[in-house]
Amino acid sequence: MSPQLLIDISALLASFLFIYGLKRMSSPVTARSGIVVAGVGMLVAVLAAFLYYFGVSEAAKPHLTTNTILAAIALGVGVGWAWWSGKKVAMTSMPQMVALYNGMGGGAAAAIGAVELLKTSGHHGALPLVVTIIGSLIGAISLSGSLIAWAKLDGRINGTWRVKGQQLINGTVFLATLVLGLYIALVAEGHAHPAVTGAFFALALIFGVLMTMPIGGADMPVVISLYNAFTGLAVGFEGYVLQNPALMIAGMVVGSAGTLLTLLMAKAMNRSVANVIFSNFGPAGDEVQGEIKGSQKPAEAGDAAINMRYASKVIIAPGYGLAVAQAQHKLFEFVKLLTDAGVEVKFAIHPVAGRMPGHMNVLLAEAGVPYDMIFDMEDVNGEFKEADVAIVIGANDTVNPAARTNKSSPIYGMPILNVDQAKQVYVVKRGQGKGYSGVENELFFADNTNLVYGDAQKVMVQMIQAVKSLDGGGH
Ligand code: TAP
Repeated sequence: MSPQLLIDISALLASFLFIYGLKRMSSPVTARSGIVVAGVGMLVAVLAAFLYYFGVSEAAKPHLTTNTILAAIALGVGVGWAWWSGKKVAMTSMPQMVALYNGMGGGAAAAIGAVELLKTSGHHGALPLVVTIIGSLIGAISLSGSLIAWAKLDGRINGTWRVKGQQLINGTVFLATLVLGLYIALVAEGHAHPAVTGAFFALALIFGVLMTMPIGGADMPVVISLYNAFTGLAVGFEGYVLQNPALMIAGMVVGSAGTLLTLLMAKAMNRSVANVIFSNFGPAGDEVQGEIKGSQKPAEAGDAAINMRYASKVIIAPGYGLAVAQAQHKLFEFVKLLTDAGVEVKFAIHPVAGRMPGHMNVLLAEAGVPYDMIFDMEDVNGEFKEADVAIVIGANDTVNPAARTNKSSPIYGMPILNVDQAKQVYVVKRGQGKGYSGVENELFFADNTNLVYGDAQKVMVQMIQAVKSLDGGGH
């Protein structure tokens, strides 16, 4: 079999594995294997790239030997770094990691474009050049934008960095980048001076920074997802330039999946994507919030647990604090005690609970919670009014009734879990900490709400002990 035929078959196989892997990722039951399937596809595609070496003429081999060795070294470094960082990353830092990997993808696409544009020969017509420019532009924006998003999520850059006339500055930089790109592709026909090509890339990178700096932290997940879509598009375009079908298909799959995720997340936060990019999340909390009436009433973990043990229906609203405390295993242990005692228990999942899409689903799956106990917000929201107890564990913004009623609240309009409609609400949190958006939560002051103060894991241990000692099994 000729190397070229082998490469073509590998491309087909890799593309199939990408699409099949993505299909499996659409359900939490099969998602894990979907990741493995797509990973195998990537391995096939990467190994196939090395087959090019065997397909070229003897004359071209020495030049390609150096490149192949360099590629192998880069691969070794990349695999080593990804393996190490993937192993040690905390669940709560996952969005940062996604941002970083995503930026690398965009950067790689831009680098392919740069190599093509800096070539002194071998440019074929306007269309491939325009595609190269578009791929480079999107890839470079995705690289610098994702790095800023990473720095913001990681707390290395704080605030929204908005200056007067920001949109005019951004618009001017973007226009200048576009003009340079069109000049390179259509006027210089790919033979522009390297300084011009360098300026084009520099401006594209600057634009990525300018576009991301004003965006507030709570909107960052939508932005990362958008950059994910950008990276996919950029890779797809550069795949066309290299005439590599696996790259084209992988890019299109990532581009469309990223676009859909962006739209879904924006919808879950009740914001349009344009609104996320061009405006602020809103002034932080108290600036716009009136005073909340009522007081916060503490409760003992044991009393809350006993109350739930004698309830007939309990709904759990988990949030970011559950992930911070890593309390999912203890929580499920407690839930099993309740269900053994005949209590009906359901988990209610808000689409943006935690810090990444599907964060709560991943946590609960890790603890072994059966999928038929886990419900999406729209499927369970009608049931809170029948629940004897709703227990909020480390959630805040996603259960804040101000989103329904307070027009001046920065989270106004975001759909929330209707926990306040339950007969009794317990909120497990450590103290007076606010949620991601920084606004106070009137739920904590409501007549039917009691606060169980403490780290979620410690509280769950106390709740387990209380129910066990009541049912005679406690040691
Ligand atoms: P948040 O509103 O962030 O509230 C988390 C709460 O957990 C805080 O009030 C905190 O209060 C408590 N907490 C923290 N550590 C805890 C611990 N060890 N034990 C017990 N409680 C603890 O959480 P949420 O309701 O899940 O909302 C998510 C927010 O993040 C939304 O605003 C969303 O837009 C945003 N966001 C979402 C994503 C995605 S895609 N899911 C990504 C980025 C941002 P104390 O400090 O008093 O304990």
